[in-house]
Amino acid sequence: MAPVASSRTRSPASEGSQQTRRRDPRAAARLLDWYDRHARRLPWRSPPGDALPDPYRVWLSEIMLQQTTVATVGPYFAAFLARWPTVGDLAAAPLDDVLTAWAGLGYYARARNLHRCAQVVATELGGVFPDCEAELLKLPGIGRYTAAAVAAIAFGRRAVVVDGNVERVVARYFRVETPLPGAKPDLHRLADTLTPDDRAGDFAQAMMDLGATVCLPRGPKCLLCPLEADCAAKAAGVAQELPRRQPKAAKPTRRAVAFWLQGPGGALLLRRRPEKGLLGGMMEVPSTDWRAAPWDDSEAERAAPLAASWRELPGVVRHTFTHFHFEVTVWAAQADKRQADTSKDLDGRWVALDGLADEALPTVMRKIIEHGLIHTAAGS
Ligand code: ADE
Ligand code: SF4
Repeated sequence: MAPVASSRTRSPASEGSQQTRRRDPRAAARLLDWYDRHARRLPWRSPPGDALPDPYRVWLSEIMLQQTTVATVGPYFAAFLARWPTVGDLAAAPLDDVLTAWAGLGYYARARNLHRCAQVVATELGGVFPDCEAELLKLPGIGRYTAAAVAAIAFGRRAVVVDGNVERVVARYFRVETPLPGAKPDLHRLADTLTPDDRAGDFAQAMMDLGATVCLPRGPKCLLCPLEADCAAKAAGVAQELPRRQPKAAKPTRRAVAFWLQGPGGALLLRRRPEKGLLGGMMEVPSTDWRAAPWDDSEAERAAPLAASWRELPGVVRHTFTHFHFEVTVWAAQADKRQADTSKDLDGRWVALDGLADEALPTVMRKIIEHGLIHTAAGS
């Protein structure tokens, strides 16, 4: 019988800590052997068994890879390394340059923390990353996952590294039926039982690669899997159903009107968002508040940066954030020279259209700008 772990049902792996603490060295050995042959070549990695990679590269890639795919991260990672080859270079960069280079990766608080962390490492730690989880955890933007990943991958420390891919593999291997996110502590404990003392970094990345290429969310390729012989979900024929997930509450929708205002010469009015909160410190197209209720014309007019003959552009810009959907209607107007000259109290800055690429504009704002360009003469 394959082992079954669940906090709901009596099962071998949940019958007390004895079982969950025991190591299964064969599983790790099989997985590492598979990794030696099948590891993905990724720009931030050392090949399996080679010298440990540069901690700066490991840290940078792990921060970028949170919530984002390997394919998306590739070009950003290359651009950051080319521009800031060391943690000292990144620390010395103006925050705005870092935010601009990060634009498109999302979760901008991570870019600010990345920069703060680089500054702490560069100025307080002599440019050297700490080599253990406890010290790494003290740094800005480094949580449990990243501390474990950097300790294991960059320093060869034994650490239990659990991301979404690892959760899926572990939930299946031990047939954990408890839904996520409640199952997280169990999955972490079970991942601990599999983690070897040596090559913990390769082991972690082997689990990630297995999850990304073999133990796929839909259609796991069990016949190619080095863990197949002892996999409880495979034995029970329930691999594809795991991990189970608690249904999420539906996301609410927020709505806004964005104001596409061009000055003489065609420059676009942008403003900086408040430092705190969503997209903090990034640039934006000025808008009304973001709220659930749709805006009627007179309300939106009062929120406009200045009185002008606004016209509503056709269509709606949509973007989904972690916790809500966002729907934006765009209004366009032209500020004449007198308005632009007397607009010192305008909250914002005129940016030439060909200078937009150098601004720290998050993806949602790039969508709004694209929409504005398509539907006004500015884009032609
Ligand atoms: N996802 C997050 N970190 C990763 C890594 N080091 N290798 C592959 N996928 C990852
Ligand atoms: Fe995943 Fe199948 Fe391998 Fe089990 S045997 S770990 S379900 S790929």
